[in-house]
Amino acid sequence: MSKVSVLVGTQWGDEGKGRIIDLLSSDADFAVRFNGGNNAGHTIVVNGKKYPFHLIPSGILQPNTKAIIANGVVLDLEVLLSEIKMLEDDGLNLKDKLIISDRCHIILPYHKALDQAYENARGSEKLGTTGRGIGPVYADKVSYNGIRIYELVRWELFVEKFTFQANIKNKILKTFDTPVIDIERALEKFKKLREIILPYVADTYQILTNAIKDNKKVLVEGAQAVLLDLDFSAYPFTTASNVVTGSINAGAGIPPQKIGDVWGVVKAYTSKVGSGPFPTELKDKSGDDLREKGGEYGTTTGRPRRVGWLDLESVKFACEVAGITKIAITKIDILSGLKKIKVGVSYNLNGKSISYSSCGYDELEKLKVEYKELDGWDEDIRGCRKFEDLPKTCQEYIKFIEKFLGVKIAIVSVGPAREEYIKLV
Ligand code: IMP
Repeated sequence: MSKVSVLVGTQWGDEGKGRIIDLLSSDADFAVRFNGGNNAGHTIVVNGKKYPFHLIPSGILQPNTKAIIANGVVLDLEVLLSEIKMLEDDGLNLKDKLIISDRCHIILPYHKALDQAYENARGSEKLGTTGRGIGPVYADKVSYNGIRIYELVRWELFVEKFTFQANIKNKILKTFDTPVIDIERALEKFKKLREIILPYVADTYQILTNAIKDNKKVLVEGAQAVLLDLDFSAYPFTTASNVVTGSINAGAGIPPQKIGDVWGVVKAYTSKVGSGPFPTELKDKSGDDLREKGGEYGTTTGRPRRVGWLDLESVKFACEVAGITKIAITKIDILSGLKKIKVGVSYNLNGKSISYSSCGYDELEKLKVEYKELDGWDEDIRGCRKFEDLPKTCQEYIKFIEKFLGVKIAIVSVGPAREEYIKLV
């Protein structure tokens, strides 16, 4: 029986996961998403054309790969529709290629309104959410107030539940002095969306279970990243879903023993959107330069990302907790031209060494990072296709990361285009 491959980000998202998924999915039968919603943003470049994805697994661009949106994903149907349209306009026939679980919870207009209302109320203490309604929709899921695709299929149930919930949520929105939801108009919109979405709805658990039995190749794509995991990151500066590998069991119904390779994507430096502690952040001009060179602006929100040095103390934790077995390094070409490159290797709080996992968010704000400084390189490395083609100092940077993390680096991406990468194993 072939084992399921998994890919997760090991930092704060935006590691370039889409680019690696695109490589790994070339022979996959199924590409699966199990968590998050359209707070995610994956950009794939094929033949010079950029495809921004927020919901549909980016593996869908491979000719023989089916894309599954499994039960753990929360769905904004308008965003889903725009992605379906983007792909259809490009000539892709999505029938039998896109499959959506009827267990997925739907992001409703009041979830987005509440996300934004809470953020505004927090004032200077904003969390910096993407404003897509992610926290409120998962909160409704766990408090039995959610509405799923299951209800959308059964229209009368949807109308009944939506009307009940929207009336309650409108009362809450009024307390925030925020415009309320027009229930009738919202229902009209959902009725139209329903017609388009229904043909893609199926029991994804059964499809995946059969696929695994039939030895099909399944690739699971984690959205967000381990350092945003609801349990294992600096709460409340997290996202609202679990990202660690074990949550694939709950988010897609794939049992742990069916999982084989767990790929961790590590960007050669760090970026973060939203508030919260960022120990290796560069707040000076070198940070601005890195942001510009790396094009570090959110795919989802367009927000400038905060940037900093690679933080191996936190990445090592992410690799351990997610059980990473192979690493893909991305965006190392962005570091070309730097004389010296720093890497965070340990944390120190009040004169004592402290691990990432033991730190609360307030401690992460205060601690001092101890760095290792390595030599940079000047050459443009985008044309390199073998490890030996890379400048010696770039090779040393990669080897340093591998040794520190104790996990094999299997892919180094040296540019955004499909062919710009080096395979190491
Ligand atoms: P939410 O997921 O929109 O509730 O946002 C919570 C935190 O997670 C914020 O700091 C967001 O910027 C961050 N976040 C959520 N999704 C992503 C992602 O896909 N990439 C990077 N950061 C994300």
